[in-house]
Amino acid sequence: MQENAWTITVVLIALLAVIFLRVLLTSNRQAHDQASSGRPYAFRGAIFWLLILAGVVITFASLRPWPHATQAEAAQRVEVTGAQWSWQLSQTQVKAGVPVEFLVTSRDVNHGFGIYDASMRMLAQVQAMPGYTNKLLYTFEQPGEYHILCMEYCGVAHHNMTSTLTVSPAGE
Ligand code: CUA
Repeated sequence: MQENAWTITVVLIALLAVIFLRVLLTSNRQAHDQASSGRPYAFRGAIFWLLILAGVVITFASLRPWPHATQAEAAQRVEVTGAQWSWQLSQTQVKAGVPVEFLVTSRDVNHGFGIYDASMRMLAQVQAMPGYTNKLLYTFEQPGEYHILCMEYCGVAHHNMTSTLTVSPAGE
């Protein structure tokens, strides 16, 4: 998310720099061509400063989403690796009410990372693929025991590929 904000800002600044340069060069040439009359030059000068103002405003506007990006980064992070036939989780306990970022990958074949509540209702799922890390954001509203099941047939012991996740009450 923060990388996106960076990219957008850099692209915007580059774009504005090109526009400024063009306007500057054009107005300089015009000023030479119409050295006797100062009016068109003044007009282009005004446009130039207007564009600078727009650039500053746009740059600051694009900076504004950053605190939100930082907030998302403060989410709890669980690294998940699927492998025939088990799940490896960097932590099995998370807090309720705080977004959890699952970074899901696989060591061998494709698996399906599925989160279920105590009554086996599916809450969220993402593919676990070798060579890729898929992101899954989920906020557990209720504390308790949650189940992790593999949702894609991955071999003879596919059905054994389960794990549990404990969600503790918010603020504990
Ligand atoms: Cu892993 Cu099915």
